[in-house]
Amino acid sequence: MKNFLISSLVFFHLTLVSVRSDVIQETCDKAARGDPATIRLDFCLSAFEGNPKAKSATSVADLVEISIETSIANATSMGSLITSLLDNKSIGIFARNCLEDCSELYSLAGSNLRRGGKAFEGKDFGTANIEITAAMDAPVTCEDGFKEKGLVSPLTKENKNFFQLTAIPLVFMKMVQK
Ligand SMILES: *[C@@H]1O[C@H](CO)[C@@H](O)[C@H](O)[C@H]1NC(C)=O
Ligand SMILES: *[C@@H]1O[C@H](CO)[C@@H](O)[C@H](O)[C@H]1NC(C)=O
Repeated sequence: MKNFLISSLVFFHLTLVSVRSDVIQETCDKAARGDPATIRLDFCLSAFEGNPKAKSATSVADLVEISIETSIANATSMGSLITSLLDNKSIGIFARNCLEDCSELYSLAGSNLRRGGKAFEGKDFGTANIEITAAMDAPVTCEDGFKEKGLVSPLTKENKNFFQLTAIPLVFMKMVQK
């Protein structure tokens, strides 16, 4: 009887764990297949890895909220990175101007994402869509700023990363609406 109880508990536990991780796997899979130009499967999976909230997510809507939070955190982190780059006294005036623009852009992106998250919670998908799409302009405009001045962007990798990260809630949201 005791053994039976233990084994059914273990079974129950394993079932729960697999159901939970399936939401991430299935949704990332579906997104990567439906929108291969925007969502890469390995990137999508790694965006949720090690996030305790993601582990207990049970729906695509949960994942939208979690990925918006992750994007907000990354916008903040981009702000800190840019601040530390600006600390370098040998940076030229043009590069400095570009970095300051990027800092402003990521601060606005954070606000867009926060409004997008609120709109999503209120099931106002139209507004959520507009706000999250607006946030994705930040890395593009930031990158263009350096290009226009003929400078090598010190943020290329991070800009691409933020763009891909923020595409996740946008694409996932389309699945929630269906
Ligand atoms: C978020 O931003 C930082 C820049 O500070 C970047 O290096 C990092 O890879 C990003 N994190 C995630 C989870 O994408
Ligand atoms: C500071 O900026 C200069 C000029 O862009 C660069 O050569 C140098 O590596 C930077 N120093 C640090 C510590 O990032």
